[in-house]
Amino acid sequence: MVPLAPLPGACWTPLISLLLVCCLLPLGAQGQFSLRVEPQDMVISAGGSLLINCSTDCPHPKSITVETYLFKETVGSGLGWEAFQLSNVTGDSKVLCSGFCNGSQITGSSNITVYRFPKRVELAPLPPWQPVGENFTLRCQVEGGAPQAHLSAVLLRGEEELSRQLAVGESTEVLATVLAGRDDHGANFSCRWELDLRPQGLGLFQNSSAPRQLRTFVLPVTPPRLIVPRLLEVGTSRPVDCTLDGLFPASEAQVQLVLGDQMLNSSVSSQGDTLTATATATANTEEGAREIVCNVTLGGESRETRQNLTIYNGPKIDPAKCPQHLMWKERRIHVLQCQARGNPDPQLLCLQKSSGFQVPVGIPFRVTLNYSGTYFCRATSSQGTQTLTVLMNIQVRKPLSVTIAMVVLTILGFVIITAALVYVFWVRKQNAIYHVNQGSSWLPLTSKQPHEALGEEPS
Ligand SMILES: *[C@@H]1O[C@H](CO)[C@@H](O)[C@H](O)[C@H]1NC(C)=O
Ligand SMILES: *[C@@H]1O[C@H](CO)[C@@H](O)[C@H](O)[C@H]1NC(C)=O
Ligand SMILES: *[C@@H]1O[C@H](CO)[C@@H](O)[C@H](O)[C@H]1NC(C)=O
Ligand SMILES: *[C@@H]1O[C@H](CO)[C@@H](O)[C@H](O)[C@H]1NC(C)=O
Ligand SMILES: *[C@@H]1O[C@H](CO)[C@@H](O)[C@H](O)[C@H]1NC(C)=O
Ligand SMILES: *[C@@H]1O[C@H](CO)[C@@H](O)[C@H](O)[C@H]1NC(C)=O
Ligand SMILES: *[C@@H]1O[C@H](CO)[C@@H](O)[C@H](O)[C@H]1NC(C)=O
Repeated sequence: MVPLAPLPGACWTPLISLLLVCCLLPLGAQGQFSLRVEPQDMVISAGGSLLINCSTDCPHPKSITVETYLFKETVGSGLGWEAFQLSNVTGDSKVLCSGFCNGSQITGSSNITVYRFPKRVELAPLPPWQPVGENFTLRCQVEGGAPQAHLSAVLLRGEEELSRQLAVGESTEVLATVLAGRDDHGANFSCRWELDLRPQGLGLFQNSSAPRQLRTFVLPVTPPRLIVPRLLEVGTSRPVDCTLDGLFPASEAQVQLVLGDQMLNSSVSSQGDTLTATATATANTEEGAREIVCNVTLGGESRETRQNLTIYNGPKIDPAKCPQHLMWKERRIHVLQCQARGNPDPQLLCLQKSSGFQVPVGIPFRVTLNYSGTYFCRATSSQGTQTLTVLMNIQVRKPLSVTIAMVVLTILGFVIITAALVYVFWVRKQNAIYHVNQGSSWLPLTSKQPHEALGEEPS
């Protein structure tokens, strides 16, 4: 701003002379004459020019001039008036007209106020995504502009005024704190300066910054629900489903479904606050454990769920379902339990290593001694082959006659032993009776022995 017109040195001389004239000359005749300045209290655009008319009703005025530091030019004169063009008016100033009437100085003045539009109005960038329910600050800068008393900065949401601030200094900042809501999503915020020169008869000038559109969002802390099969056969496909509730705006969320290192083509739909992504998981890679990941991204934040998926292929013989050491008895009915799985279904054959004889699998059969040996169980499909070695040990069973003879001999032996024991017992009992009849001096000693005493009780 240009400081209020300190009058240049040249201006002082006529003022001093005016004072001298006033004091030295007797008051009277010239007092009724004045010097008018037109227009009065002008407001003009900075850098502009204006016409100043200094006129008087003094019949014979002399030396009418204008005192100003501005660039001036005489553009016309007539009886009792003189007009000047003042150009390049860049700041507020005061113009003074002076002249002489009957040897006395006469003066008049007018104020010039310059108005200037702000050089710049800018709304600071908004957060790229603003969480709903959190405050954010709008900040706007207005640079330049005059006169400051008539200039203000206004923050707007659409056309709604949020905050207003009068200009102070060269740069004015206006702030507003806004609690982000769902209805602020897509709202346009802007900043406007207003130069109100309606009292000066010039109207209301205003200009707005480029609008900035806000995006607000809600992303729940819960991870998405992922529905996937636990097992997937090579070459097959299964649907995969990923859902997340409470999202806003659900239609702007991004979903990624990844199986291992393979991105799945998912179709995403949203209804209300619910987002659903469906894809088809196809196992066209090798078998093994894979991870399937569902990743939902909104407002620069992500929520994800991981789940394991096992891809399997054939052919495979399950060792747990195929005993590899068999201990069987001959001439009995047995079943060789063995299973192979895979896709496509494999064919399973068990062949004796030495003879190439094919033993039935899963079907009961009567075992003979020549089944003993090593077998190769082989599962075969278009996907490949797997072999498992099975050892079959067949034990000889003794013929029935041998068994009967052994039983008879065992019983016979038992009978003989029993008879022998009974006989020995009877002989000893006879000896004991004989000793009593003899009246032997040993008798008291022997009768004290407990087992002898027990033996005598029944007699
Ligand atoms: C200046 O003012 C006088 C008196 O009002 C008028 O006669 C004259 O035409 C004006 N001059 C201009 C250039 O406006
Ligand atoms: C107007 O005045 C400014 C300084 O007050 C000066 O720099 C500029 O050159 C002037 N312009 C004209 C057209 O006289
Ligand atoms: C948002 O700001 C207002 C004041 O500007 C305050 O009262 C309110 O608690 C703030 N809300 C949050 C969620 O920070
Ligand atoms: C915000 O501005 C954009 C582009 O100028 C417009 O498409 C959109 O409708 C506006 N939003 C509102 C809520 O007025
Ligand atoms: C996804 O779709 C594109 C084109 O529709 C296709 O080229 C690509 O092979 C698909 N990817 C998967 C993994 O299905
Ligand atoms: C989720 O996806 C986004 C966008 O594709 C990515 O930037 C982010 O890193 C992913 N998050 C995780 C945890 O993988
Ligand atoms: C064992 O011998 C019988 C008759 O000699 C025969 O039928 C059978 O196939 C043989 N089994 C094996 C495993 O060689």
